Amino acid sequence: MFARGCRYVVLLVAVALPSPAPPSLRAAADHAGMLIGAAVRPAQLSEAAYAATLAREFNMVEPENALKWEVVHPEPQSFDFSQADQIVDFAFEHGMKVRGHTLVWHQQNPKWLTEGKFTSAELAAILERHIKTVVGHYRGKIFAWDVVNEAFDELHPGDLRSTIWRDQPGIAIAASSEPRASNNLARSELEARSSKPHSAERGYAYMERCFHWAHEADPQALLFYNEAEAEVVNPKSDAILAMVRDFRQRGVPVDGVGFQMHIANLRADVTSISANIARFTALGMQVHITEMDVALPVDANGNARPEDLQRQADIYRQIAEACLAHRGCTAIQTWGFTDKYSWIGSHSKHTQGAALLFDRDYRAKPAYLALKNTLAAR
Ligand code: XIL
Repeated sequence: MFARGCRYVVLLVAVALPSPAPPSLRAAADHAGMLIGAAVRPAQLSEAAYAATLAREFNMVEPENALKWEVVHPEPQSFDFSQADQIVDFAFEHGMKVRGHTLVWHQQNPKWLTEGKFTSAELAAILERHIKTVVGHYRGKIFAWDVVNEAFDELHPGDLRSTIWRDQPGIAIAASSEPRASNNLARSELEARSSKPHSAERGYAYMERCFHWAHEADPQALLFYNEAEAEVVNPKSDAILAMVRDFRQRGVPVDGVGFQMHIANLRADVTSISANIARFTALGMQVHITEMDVALPVDANGNARPEDLQRQADIYRQIAEACLAHRGCTAIQTWGFTDKYSWIGSHSKHTQGAALLFDRDYRAKPAYLALKNTLAAR
């Protein structure tokens, strides 16, 4: 009798108490069914505080530079996986997922490639081999890839950027997918006959090949198109939407879009970001926030103003809410996690910084709490 009464009391207490705050960002993300990631530098993994914070707070990692061509493919005939392998091994030990970044980009390419004066056919063979070798090496280990990064132009909204892969000299895909000259139709006539111009007409057919090559190398991997300054509804995101819709309709294996989310000047148009996430996820695309940071003005010692740290926290919270509001938005990743190691400093000549969730001594900032609480509230 007494024992049964006791059990009642215990049960009632358990129901009445609010659930305890999750002990970490990672626990909060697990609770929300979300991926929470950070870009990682392998050289720092031997630093105890870096490794401990990373493993405790995140359930996903992405090499910040270790999978870029200049690191992973330093010579025409040799690949160097040693740096990225360290990150993948770390992730495996700590039960974390790995995103791959990036297979096709116009930056951080080795000189042998950019100055090699290859023909288009040679370049296509080099790129196919690169994609298949790198994706193949991590088959079953890297669950999602940024296949192409930043292919749309910054200065001409909606247009593609001129790159070694697209048109300098490009990878020579036109012959396989552009309407053949032999059908003797002028381009204008061809376009007039087709309400929807073929992807080659729009210039992005070269990317299509890359998605197919990546898919051949690891059919299970999720394949993303990743972009900067396309977080809001604008001509760039309009063009990406048209491209992935066309890819989807024609069976090109694209699974998602990455929005980098490098936020400057404490300005984020969250209403537009949310509408943009909505229209991509409505297409059946996954959305990952891939490189978030919120740069703050800093003094000569790298310190930000307390009120800015609060405004920064608010932005992290709002972006997380926008993501959580759409089922297809499945990952939030920051570009680094400690202000000790962040690209913002060098990128801004040290006038900006303090952009991440932990300070230089690995202390959690207001932004950390805001993000954790938002995930916990899901
Ligand atoms: C940056 C790295 O963080 C730096 O360490 C490197 O010197 C330059 O590249 N968009 C991207 C990332 O897709 O790959 C870039 O990373 C930041 C902008």
